[in-house]
Amino acid sequence: MDGHPNRVLGFLAALRALGRQLYRSIFRGSYPASLRQQLAVVVNNLILHVHPTRVFRRSLSPQTTFGLGLICFYLFIIEWVTGVYLMFYYEPSTGAAYGRILDLDYVITFGRLMRNLHRWAAEAMVVAVALHMCRVFYTGAYKPPREFNWILGVVLLLLTLALSFTGYLLPWDQLSFWAVTVGTNIVSYAPVLGPKLRFVLLGGDSVGSDALLRFYTLHVLAVPALAALIINYHIWRVVKDGGLAHPLQRHPGGEEKTAPAPRTDPVIPTFPLVVYAELLVFVVLMAGLVAASLLFDAPLEEEANPLRPSNPSKAPWYFLGLQELVSYSAFWGGVMVPTVLTLFLLFLPYFDRKAGGEGVWFARERMGMIIVWTVILAGIVVTTVIGVFLRGPNWSFYWPWQGWPGPQ
Ligand code: HEM
Repeated sequence: MDGHPNRVLGFLAALRALGRQLYRSIFRGSYPASLRQQLAVVVNNLILHVHPTRVFRRSLSPQTTFGLGLICFYLFIIEWVTGVYLMFYYEPSTGAAYGRILDLDYVITFGRLMRNLHRWAAEAMVVAVALHMCRVFYTGAYKPPREFNWILGVVLLLLTLALSFTGYLLPWDQLSFWAVTVGTNIVSYAPVLGPKLRFVLLGGDSVGSDALLRFYTLHVLAVPALAALIINYHIWRVVKDGGLAHPLQRHPGGEEKTAPAPRTDPVIPTFPLVVYAELLVFVVLMAGLVAASLLFDAPLEEEANPLRPSNPSKAPWYFLGLQELVSYSAFWGGVMVPTVLTLFLLFLPYFDRKAGGEGVWFARERMGMIIVWTVILAGIVVTTVIGVFLRGPNWSFYWPWQGWPGPQ
């Protein structure tokens, strides 16, 4: 009996030693208290090493970036994880796809939650990427040396739309079938290559089993792999381009330097505050998404019926601005506007060469470009809102207070 307490204490001590050994084997050392240790955390950690070891303190203020780039990244990871769960059950064939989605919604443990999370995170990602792009534009963060990173960003925007659009078809319900039919028709309006591109995308002349298999392969493999590669490159470039864009300072010699005087904008180690702030953004984002997924279900209509078009047949909401333009002119909506917009976005940093205003929201010296951007943005928002809310059967116009005439 005498030896009993000693044995218990010995067991606890062994347990603590094991815990310490485990902690050290993962984190290599005790909790980092000194500046030197804090810098080492970032350098020695596989995930954290994409950060600079120190950042300007203004990087921590919410209004510097609103965490939007980070949110895009998190949403991509959430899509990945929930997508793998859905892949365990989904089958990309016209005979089985819809039934598998019903199983996910009604039979499989956490199936509905995972499907809802996947759907709402995808919608949120389109919105977050667009907002992140606007943040970068309005703070002039695409100016040298960040021009190329802006181009990577434009590619990521296109890939995000591609991810969302290819996923749209997979439930194989009336909504997805007709949305993809309309969306791919818009593609075919492009001169010379348009019809061929549509044929390659669908594996035929209409949306059918080949189209489903192609969209599935693009959605679960080709586009995410490319996006993952470019996201890595994009985030690495943020650090290589000198961290987040920050305001130019006029130094006593009169020449402009990109480094602000330390007194006005001090530098802090990335660990712990920036890392903790990033974790907080994740927790809040995840809580919001889970809440949305518990409250609202991802849409699912009846099974796709190629012989019974839904009326109106609407493209996914982020293409409804284009569909609205196509309803006036296929050439303008399907060809000119998307081409000019994409070229405008791609080459923006190369024709807007006037220096000044980097890292400052709505800088006065950039007012010309800011107005141009805002007018384009307003055009996109207005046409999208018309397409989403004010178009009924036969694409006829109606006011919301007259009541939704309902699909026919
Ligand atoms: C999947 C999509 C994207 C991801 C995951 C992503 C991620 C990020 C992250 C984490 C940052 C640093 C922090 C921040 O600014 O919030 C960043 C910065 C940046 N992003 Fe993105 N981004 C994406 C799309 C875009 C798009 C569409 C554009 C523009 C067309 C863009 C252009 C830039 C630029 C130029 C910077 C540097 C900003 C600065 O120095 O202040 N990104 N991005």
